[in-house]
Amino acid sequence: MPLVVVTGGCGFIGCNLVRMLLRDGAPDLRVRVFDAFTYAGDLRNLADVLADDRLEVVQGDVTDAEALRAALEGADQVYHLAAESHNDRAILDPWTTWRANADGAAQLLIAAKDARVGRVLFVSTDEVYGVAAEGQKFSEDAPLNPRGPYQASKAAGDCLARAFFETYGLNVVVARPTNNYGPYQFPEKLIPVLVWRALNDQPLPLYGDGQQRRDFLHVEDCCRALKLLMDRGQAGQAYNIPGDNEHANIEVARAILQLLEKPESLIHFVADRPGHDFRYALDGRKLADLGWQPLIPWEQGLRDTVAWYVENRDWLEYMVAKAQDFLSRWYSERV
Ligand code: TYD
Repeated sequence: MPLVVVTGGCGFIGCNLVRMLLRDGAPDLRVRVFDAFTYAGDLRNLADVLADDRLEVVQGDVTDAEALRAALEGADQVYHLAAESHNDRAILDPWTTWRANADGAAQLLIAAKDARVGRVLFVSTDEVYGVAAEGQKFSEDAPLNPRGPYQASKAAGDCLARAFFETYGLNVVVARPTNNYGPYQFPEKLIPVLVWRALNDQPLPLYGDGQQRRDFLHVEDCCRALKLLMDRGQAGQAYNIPGDNEHANIEVARAILQLLEKPESLIHFVADRPGHDFRYALDGRKLADLGWQPLIPWEQGLRDTVAWYVENRDWLEYMVAKAQDFLSRWYSERV
């Protein structure tokens, strides 16, 4: 009976991955979620699959060595997604971010080595490369050049994963996905923030002039890539996961307003994020060579995502309430 552990399995990408693993997995599969329920991680994100007896949910923090030791016992595969994932929170509180993403990564890798886990899929980010110049795309051997506290903390974990492969022979593959979007994304990230504001006829805050660019990848496509890398990635290697879908933030805001039939006058430019990375861009040839490509077109993905938030307004309202302290503090400083 194969046992798959997903750290951060109650978060945005985590819950989508768990759902996919259960949907596509064999009847004897076992999935153990390890999640701290800090704020974005929430049992509600797995509500529709909690009754599946192949799923077990354990509460624990990735900086807690003892809890990790227990959770990883007997694990064949570990997907490491647990993280403090938001740049703006990291700017306000760099220590909490460092602790989860760097110390947590170290504890996770140590526990995986000690438990002789068959394979670790370590989820990093495209942000470790720093800013991509116009026309530039980073391949996996580009130097890491993190520019902010969140990016630096993720780069620390990313480097440590490689170090554990070289030093201890840990079977670890590193994934560097670009900006994910889709159902269950916590309303602190661009798309759910804008949807929530638009639904409530409130101003949509765009940092600076709104011209910064991101490459948006649907979370379903990302999860397929994570599974593929778990199955077929080469140990010790890193793989980019691009969306091939670059848009300026202002284009995203306009598209959301159009879908919700709200006026463009809701767009509101606010004080920029300090150290804001203008553009991220990935060369995805290494992953494409394994047979992966993104399948969900942006127009369809965004339309379905916005529709999901509209249909799940209770979920959105509940999560916004959980985020309220942060949202009030961060956005009151920007207007
Ligand atoms: P975000 O979703 O926080 O992801 P990341 O910073 O990790 O890429 O932000 C995506 C882009 O949207 C980024 O350029 C910052 C910008 N942004 C805004 O303009 N306004 C907002 O309220 C938020 C949350 C983000």
